[in-house]
Amino acid sequence: MLLSPNPLSLLCALLLCLPLAIVFTTNTTHTTTTTTPIILDIPMPLPKNISIHENPNKTSSLLSPSLNIQDDELHKVITREKRRPIGPNKKSLLTSLSVPLSSPSPSLWQENRHDALFKAAMRVNAKPTRPKKVAFMFLTNKPLPFAPLWESYFNQTTTSKNLFNIYVHADPTFPYHAPFSGVFFNRVIRSQPTRRFSPTLTAAARRLLAHALLDDTSNSVFVLLSPSCIPLHSLNFTYHALLRRGKSFVEILANEAVAYDRWAARGPHVMLPEVRLEEFRVGSQFWALTRRHARLVVSDRVLWPKFNVPCVRFDTCYPEENYFPTLLSMWDPQGCVPATLTHVNWTGRVDGHPRTYEAWEVGPELIRRMREDRPRYGDGNGDGRRDPFLFARKFAADALEALMRISNGVIFRD
Ligand SMILES: *[C@@H]1O[C@H](CO)[C@@H](O)[C@H](O)[C@H]1NC(C)=O
Ligand SMILES: *[C@@H]1O[C@H](CO)[C@@H](O)[C@H](O)[C@H]1NC(C)=O
Ligand SMILES: *[C@@H]1O[C@H](CO)[C@@H](O)[C@H](O)[C@H]1NC(C)=O
Ligand SMILES: *[C@@H]1O[C@H](CO)[C@@H](O)[C@H](O)[C@H]1NC(C)=O
Ligand SMILES: *[C@@H]1O[C@H](CO)[C@@H](O)[C@H](O)[C@H]1NC(C)=O
Ligand SMILES: *[C@@H]1O[C@H](CO)[C@@H](O)[C@H](O)[C@H]1NC(C)=O
Repeated sequence: MLLSPNPLSLLCALLLCLPLAIVFTTNTTHTTTTTTPIILDIPMPLPKNISIHENPNKTSSLLSPSLNIQDDELHKVITREKRRPIGPNKKSLLTSLSVPLSSPSPSLWQENRHDALFKAAMRVNAKPTRPKKVAFMFLTNKPLPFAPLWESYFNQTTTSKNLFNIYVHADPTFPYHAPFSGVFFNRVIRSQPTRRFSPTLTAAARRLLAHALLDDTSNSVFVLLSPSCIPLHSLNFTYHALLRRGKSFVEILANEAVAYDRWAARGPHVMLPEVRLEEFRVGSQFWALTRRHARLVVSDRVLWPKFNVPCVRFDTCYPEENYFPTLLSMWDPQGCVPATLTHVNWTGRVDGHPRTYEAWEVGPELIRRMREDRPRYGDGNGDGRRDPFLFARKFAADALEALMRISNGVIFRD
């Protein structure tokens, strides 16, 4: 279906498919592109050689707060965002329903470019306060099928309740018959429609980052999760593994055979001159970013406008798998572990969807296999992996019961 040029099936895909990652990390023969070694090691506020010579003033405005925003305006935004109870808002639900599903309007793609939320978020301190916390950010368009599993994950007594926060981006155009409850109650941020083959999934992830940055100055690592993700370890183990390295975990692949098509799908005229093909990267949609990098993302005014426009080709349009790896590899490769911590099984898949584990396959053996699996690690081979997988996908919704049966005895036991 993904490669079909038939407009009807494309429309169906746009309307029906879930916002799940597609990344062709199959073991492809490396193409003949001459690879430019990444030699950028530029301190954070200075992006790579962009406009520096044309306008000396522009450099600082790229990443630092825009100067025309008044402090009192900023203060108002921050106070409002903090006071506003996080939760689905009936009114915004209705408003967003009027968004035409079949023809996403340019305003939908462009939304939030100048949003006050982002202006406020880019001003937060990049250094977290203590105790450091992990922000678990769920990006969904359906009720979370594994909510009970996450509930007991977050309820483990060995880890302090003060060491994490939960945020949910829930596409308001989909129904949530069972409302978000338990640990997810009141954790839904103001959300926007999300569609595959569009920048909206990336926009949603950025929105989660902005909210989480503003919500708690202690949020130190920001983890993106899908509804079909499960934890592979205890919360305590995960917390320490995420914080130990002081780096972001974002898969950054330089030599993917699909890179050219992905880049071309964005439109070379849009990507150039800042993002040449040699600088374009591919990687899993699911990452864990440090606070410094979360702030970098919400402050980005160079790459985001380029990724926040519709693709010129839709069959290879997965900006959420290109924006983050490209941005971070251009601006701070040293600050990244170039691999994802979310296990996914692409073995033998040709349809662009990773393997989905069914209920009957779930057992202690599967969890053990996933933990011990050593697939590729960034551009290197699996032997280089020294960071354990902390999450896994995809699991069929009806695997919940089987997962719950082994949660305390296997999944949360490290
Ligand atoms: C990937 O390719 C490399 C070299 O092309 C090969 O050595 C390796 O065994 C392959 N890995 C898998 C999982 O197929
Ligand atoms: C920076 O950009 C300018 C103008 O585009 C170019 O002349 C110069 O060679 C570039 N410098 C580096 C180090 O890439
Ligand atoms: C840079 O900023 C200064 C003072 O804000 C201004 O006088 C100057 O014209 C600006 N330069 C450019 C190239 O915009
Ligand atoms: C979580 O823990 C609290 C007490 O610490 C308990 O009241 C609650 O029932 C637990 N929830 C679940 C889903 O286990
Ligand atoms: C939490 O994890 C850390 C690191 O993995 C470990 O040293 C510590 O003993 C664990 N604490 C508990 C209560 O399990
Ligand atoms: C991944 O899928 C392949 C093929 O379905 C299977 O043989 C393999 O065991 C799976 N790997 C893991 C870690 O489950």
